[in-house]
Amino acid sequence: MSHSIVDVASAPSNLHCEYHPNPLGVEEKSPRLSWLFQDPGTLRGARQGAYQVLAASSREKLAADEGDLWDSGKIASDQSTHVEYAGAPLKAQQRCWWKVRTWNGRDESSSWSAPAWWEMGLCSPRAWKGAWIMGPARPADAPAGGVPCPHFRKTFTLDSPPDRVQRARVYVTARGLYELYLNGQRVGDDVFAAGWHDYHRRLPYRVYDVTGLLCQGQNVLAAILADGWYCGHVAWREKLYGAEPSLLLQMHVTDAQGKRQVIISDSTWRCTTGPILEADFLMGETYDCRQELPRWNEPGYDDGAWQAARSSALSTDDAKRLAWHPGPPVRRIQEIKPIAISEPAAPGSAFIFDLGQNMVGWVRLRVPAGLPAGTRLTLRHAEMLQADGTLYTENLRSAKATDHVITAGSDAFDYEPRFTFHGFRYVELSGLPASSGKPNAETVTGIVVHSHLAPTGQFACSHPLVNQLQRNIQWGQKGNFLEVPTDCPQRNERLGWTGDAQIFVRTACFNMDVAAFFSKWTTDLRDAQDAAGGYPAVVPDILRGDHSDGGPGWADAGVIVPWTIYRCYGDQRILRRHYQSMARYIQYLGAVDVDKRHNYGDWLNIMAHTPVDLVHYAYAAHSTDLMSRIAGVLGKPRDARKYAGALTRIKKAFAKRYITAEGRVLGDTQTAYILALQFDLVPERMRRAAQHHLAHDIVHGRYGDTYQHRNTHISTGFLGTRDINSVLTDAGRLDLAYQLLLRDDFPSWLMPVKNGATTIWERWNSWTPDRGFGPVGMNSFNHYAYGAIGQWLYQVVAGLDLAPQDDAAGYRRLLIHPRPQPGADAAIHHANAAYDSIHGRIEISWSIVEGRFTLTVTLPPNTRATVRFAAPSLDAVSEGDQPAVRADGVSNAKHQGGDFIAEIGSGRYSFAVPWA
Ligand code: BGC
Repeated sequence: MSHSIVDVASAPSNLHCEYHPNPLGVEEKSPRLSWLFQDPGTLRGARQGAYQVLAASSREKLAADEGDLWDSGKIASDQSTHVEYAGAPLKAQQRCWWKVRTWNGRDESSSWSAPAWWEMGLCSPRAWKGAWIMGPARPADAPAGGVPCPHFRKTFTLDSPPDRVQRARVYVTARGLYELYLNGQRVGDDVFAAGWHDYHRRLPYRVYDVTGLLCQGQNVLAAILADGWYCGHVAWREKLYGAEPSLLLQMHVTDAQGKRQVIISDSTWRCTTGPILEADFLMGETYDCRQELPRWNEPGYDDGAWQAARSSALSTDDAKRLAWHPGPPVRRIQEIKPIAISEPAAPGSAFIFDLGQNMVGWVRLRVPAGLPAGTRLTLRHAEMLQADGTLYTENLRSAKATDHVITAGSDAFDYEPRFTFHGFRYVELSGLPASSGKPNAETVTGIVVHSHLAPTGQFACSHPLVNQLQRNIQWGQKGNFLEVPTDCPQRNERLGWTGDAQIFVRTACFNMDVAAFFSKWTTDLRDAQDAAGGYPAVVPDILRGDHSDGGPGWADAGVIVPWTIYRCYGDQRILRRHYQSMARYIQYLGAVDVDKRHNYGDWLNIMAHTPVDLVHYAYAAHSTDLMSRIAGVLGKPRDARKYAGALTRIKKAFAKRYITAEGRVLGDTQTAYILALQFDLVPERMRRAAQHHLAHDIVHGRYGDTYQHRNTHISTGFLGTRDINSVLTDAGRLDLAYQLLLRDDFPSWLMPVKNGATTIWERWNSWTPDRGFGPVGMNSFNHYAYGAIGQWLYQVVAGLDLAPQDDAAGYRRLLIHPRPQPGADAAIHHANAAYDSIHGRIEISWSIVEGRFTLTVTLPPNTRATVRFAAPSLDAVSEGDQPAVRADGVSNAKHQGGDFIAEIGSGRYSFAVPWA
């Protein structure tokens, strides 16, 4: 073995605080700091030997190396993530400048990083001085989302001229949605703020730096409000939290001398209504250009005809609910041009644009010049077309998903809705007078909108349909990670289903940086826990009481999601924050009457019903197992033992009740075997038999008692599908796992892909070539649950995974174990994956060419991996141009069970071996 600790010499980069670069509004007492190394991957065995963080109250002090807030001193440690600030107590609104330098293994220091900062929020209920303000009174029976959006403005004069202002911040939230302006300029670029939470429990606010938007003399703050989740339609309900939207705002302007001017929302604001006649997530938006208020949000506009905003004081309870929004904002992320235009109905009456991608957001419509004033153009949205080429909208249920724009003059203009979103690939435009000619590809642009999550994962291989499957999984994530993880983005549902989220979370963590997103949602989860200890079926819990215990596989999201975020990002704090709540859940599992427990079972399986009580015990075991590991991670050995003991008891009872001496799992469904094997509930001596029964069912089973032969297909629903291939992999049936992956007839992952799908469908039979559309009552074409196969693509096909040890968290330790498809007729000869972990970029690429398997791996500093792949012998493996056993950075190499196994540190490695 030769192992050298080499340089981490260049300055750290990519400084993050609480998962964000330079965040505004932090309310943590000890914000966590992370950094990366600029030159990852090229040096072998690179580890940080020590670090030093300096935090200062000004940029100048930091530049002078004066850490007046915190000087960590030189800390001997390789920790480069989640380093907790431990300096002087932070004050509200304080900006904290920071930088970091590191030492390598030879004790040589890097230069200092570029400066970064975070800024504290208001941090106290008492700091909020404003009142809620509301627009013109609505009739009591006003339809949800169906009344004109209120517009507000507040004129004020700056105490100091703008060039003397040191900083200006707006702290703002709404019960509903807001769009904010200062002097006619949009503040921020987020959409659908203030987001979605249980507004009765939490009112997260956002902070904007508006220093650059101030002007001399008169200034105007302005806002539009919409109903959104607060009082529009949500699923099959409406006005869930209140009857009308309201705004709470506070602006602080501080001049160079530290003198402060505060502007708050109160009844001195003026309000009226404007061109947005209706705005609703499910129904759509109606915009009447004739009602526009030119320059309404700029200084000098005469608002004399407007009325005073109604206001209501901020209650002490509401003030306590105000908190920093830790999640990423929702933004416009990309634009898509149509790939085809058709006219399936009477010529000229309606045009259908095919965007080529099932997406979530809205369209920007180029309204042509020359239309008579009052022309009403209508945009309808759909995911699929009927056989006759017209829109298929039945699956939207009561969601109208229709936008209207009514013209005023004859100039061309662009229209985009603001306060609605749709899930669609096709958009139909109607209302164009024949005289205006035919629209073209410039008429419509798809605006893709979702929570702004950095893409972190890429997977590709030599099989085009599998690559399209991966793209569909990622699009499913884009379409459904919108403020909360939703089941679907199109019909009247769009809820944070807990079961869907826990099934998909591991895949989600590969594709995008979801740490902050789930930090926010797990807080909502905790807020929604019921008195008995259950977690609901949907979060925020709009079904209230209906399924306040979401049941097995759903409620367990309360444990599984924080655990997965810990594993993928090394975030111990999420475990600490949720510990009491998770403990209450485990206690609840022990007390609940299983037969009375709400239970979706293996939802949407194909005629293969797994006993629902088995699902309960399997998930109870899994959550208890995780809880014991969580207690271990948090240094609570007594609790860890207590939960481990409980797990042993559940396992014993499970085996006794559900597993026969021949290794049959009661119910005899694929999912029954998958749950029992994946959660390690099958006693060792029956394991092989149980694995065999699963494989036998996949190959020889039948759908229902009499229906068709399985003929190597799945029958699993939401709960079984994620793990079927990993259970088969563990069982030594990689061949079967690949056969399932590569099937392209019903039911399979690739059948939709082969038939043009661009997202993951809700059901195996959402659409089939011989039967057409599946059950219309519940048929989404953008549902990520079955996309949970994505984790297996990364972990097994590419071979990029966390090591199983609990301390592997945050990819400090990895398992690089590509498992190519076995057999001479293998369809996949190459795969590669890249993942931007919290420790830096990991890359892996393998191929089999002319009887040689080559594997290239790149690991960032501070990480280590076990590398494993099939090899005829130890000597047969090379790395670079020498035997792997002698390669620099490769240690503990051995040959075991037909595999080459070795340890590597950071760096780039190229292994090669003859392939049998
Ligand atoms: C949702 C699912 C959810 C399920 C619960 C459906 O309406 O779309 O994704 O998990 O209900 O059974």
